[in-house]
Amino acid sequence: MDRKKQTTKETILDMLIMSHDYVSGQEICDRLALSRTAVWKHIKALKAEGYEISSVNNRGYKLIGTPDVLDEKHIWEHLHTSWLAQEIVYLPETDSSNIQAKLLGENGATNGTVVVTDKQTAGRGRRGRSWISPSGNCYFSMLLYPDVRVDRASMITLIAAMAVAKAVRETENVETMIKWPNDVVVNGKKICGILTESSTDLEYIQYVVVGIGINCNQKEFDEEIRSMATSISLETGEEVNRPELLAKFFECFEEYYDIFMETEDLSRLSDTYNELLINRGREVKIIERNDERVMRAIGINNMGGLVVENDAGERESIISGEVSVRGLYGYV
Ligand code: BTN
Repeated sequence: MDRKKQTTKETILDMLIMSHDYVSGQEICDRLALSRTAVWKHIKALKAEGYEISSVNNRGYKLIGTPDVLDEKHIWEHLHTSWLAQEIVYLPETDSSNIQAKLLGENGATNGTVVVTDKQTAGRGRRGRSWISPSGNCYFSMLLYPDVRVDRASMITLIAAMAVAKAVRETENVETMIKWPNDVVVNGKKICGILTESSTDLEYIQYVVVGIGINCNQKEFDEEIRSMATSISLETGEEVNRPELLAKFFECFEEYYDIFMETEDLSRLSDTYNELLINRGREVKIIERNDERVMRAIGINNMGGLVVENDAGERESIISGEVSVRGLYGYV
C-alpha cells in the first residue's frame, strides 16, 4: 500500500488524529471543499470501520478510539519513523513471522520491512522451543541489514527489549523492566519474547530478522507457564490498542538502532538499559551446564554482557547464550 496517496476519508481521519480535540464540521468542509452531507457520510464510513467518533452539535467531531487491527493502514496512522516499518506485510494468520521475514530477506526486501501477524500456527521461541501464538497479541518480525560484524548482532536483541519496555511504558502506562538479556517483564512476569535470527557470510551479516511477540490481550496462560508469563491487559486491566503500541515500538527501536549503528556497540545505550534491568544490584543464580553460582548483578557492559560480582568484589562478564540467569527464588 502506498503511504502517501490519501483518500478524502483518510484526510478527514488525519485531521481528527492531529487535533486531539473537536474539529468543526465547517472547518472540514472548508479545508476539503466538501458539503456538510459529504463530511457526514465520511464520518459514518469511519465509524463503520471501527473508529469511535463523538459528534457534538456546535463543536464538531472528535476521535475517541481507533480500531485494534494490526494491518499497515492502522499502524501507519500512528507511525512517526523515517525508515522502519515503511513497508509492512500484514498477514492475518501465518506459520511464523520470522519464517516469512527470512523469505523476504532472501529476496532482498527493503531494510526495515516488517511482517506483522495476528496469529501464528508455528511460532518459534529460543532454544528450539515453540511460541504459542493465539490471536489478540502482537507478533512481528523486522528485516534489517546492519553493516556490522557477526558478533555484534546479539546486541540488536537487547535494543529491541529496551524499545519494547519503553513503548509499553509510554502507551500503557505500566512499569516494565528487563530481565537480562531480553525478556521484558511486568510485575516479575514475562510479557514479551524476542528471537533474533541472522543469515551470515563469514564475518559479515547478510540480514537479521528480529522477531518479537508481545502478550497484549491474552487472558489465559497454560498451567506450566502461568507463574512466569502474563499479558499487559492482565496486569493493567485495560485492553491494549495494538497498532498504537506497535507504532510506538517502531519509533523507539529506530531511535536506539540508529544510535547503535553509529558506535556498533552499546556504549551510548547501556545506561538506559541498566536503568530498566530488573536484576541490577540483586543476587542472581548463574546456571551453566550443571554448575550454579550466586553472584550480584551489576549491569551490562558495552557489548551486552552481564557484569556480575562475587562477595570478594571480583567481577566478570557473562555472555548470553552460554548461561542462563535466574532470580534466587524464581524467574526474576
Ligand atoms: C522466546 O523464546 O522468548 C522468544 C520468542 C519469540 C517469539 C516471536 S513471535 C514473533 C516472531 N515469530 C516467531 O516465530 N517467533 C518470534
